[in-house]
Amino acid sequence: MAKPKALLFAIQKGGQGKSMLSTHTAFLAAERGKKVLAADLDGQGTFSRNLVPDEFDRDTAPSLSLFTGTQRAPMPISLPYRTDGTISLMSGDRRLVQVDENPKIAVETLRTRLDKCAAGADLVVLDPPPTLGKRLRAALIAADFVVMPFVPARESVDGLGDLMDTIEEVKQEYNPNLKVIGLLANMVNSRSGFDRRILDDLQAAAPDMLLPMMIHDRTSISGAMASSRPVWQGSQGESQKKAGAEVRQALNHILDTVFKN
Ligand SMILES: Nc1ncnc2c1ncn2[C@@H]1O[C@H](COP(=O)(O)OP(=O)(O)OP(=O)(O)O)[C@@H](O)[C@H]1O
Ligand SMILES: [Mg+2]
Repeated sequence: MAKPKALLFAIQKGGQGKSMLSTHTAFLAAERGKKVLAADLDGQGTFSRNLVPDEFDRDTAPSLSLFTGTQRAPMPISLPYRTDGTISLMSGDRRLVQVDENPKIAVETLRTRLDKCAAGADLVVLDPPPTLGKRLRAALIAADFVVMPFVPARESVDGLGDLMDTIEEVKQEYNPNLKVIGLLANMVNSRSGFDRRILDDLQAAAPDMLLPMMIHDRTSISGAMASSRPVWQGSQGESQKKAGAEVRQALNHILDTVFKN
């Protein structure tokens, strides 16, 4: 059986769209017939909530067990429509802070435990917390591909250098095969000259890094996440159609890259 590909959206800042993109990637890969393991490594549990609308027992398949204690099997989730693919979840909750606090948990543990947990899957999507800490490093060590989503704002862009340094360190010390797919602009306001300038500056500074597609700020995207479905599903107004097409285009590009390599 081929080893699954592992992907993460990473940036050490909150609210950039990591969990929104992780969720849509899991949905889209399932639509493409893939077996997906969704691993929520953030104590806020946004990825888990985006995928599962109802309350569920957080002890069923806690992602903490990918780091310490008895390892659990992921829980299958029911999708909002029929597909050939599947999604199963290791859910995130506040107990994940133990990973950061316990020096006995090695940063490579996630990679080792995922091998077993993801056996039979085609794709693992890892959703990290918004800090340059141990869980983000563990995810970079376990991953094959990383995409850096960002909202065009100085505070977001300023942190990208530190993130790139961390990625380089991880490549040198632990994971030479990690591939950076690129930077994905999210929540872009097309009427803002300010957003345009930030994107132009980034393009000039790192010409090969900025992905050619971007996702605009659209309320239908947050609405879809709040009702645990992809934005391209459900009744469609004009702006939702545009949002769905945009998200699919960006994520199809990313999944094409993942499954081509
Ligand atoms: N393009 C977009 N248009 C409108 N809303 C968006 C868009 N992208 C994300 N959002 C919304 O913005 C909020 C933050 O997004 P998300 O949870 O994905 O960020 P995050 O990077 O995972 O944050 P954190 O680091 O805190 O986990 C969510 O409510 C999400 O639905
Ligand atoms: Mg998140």
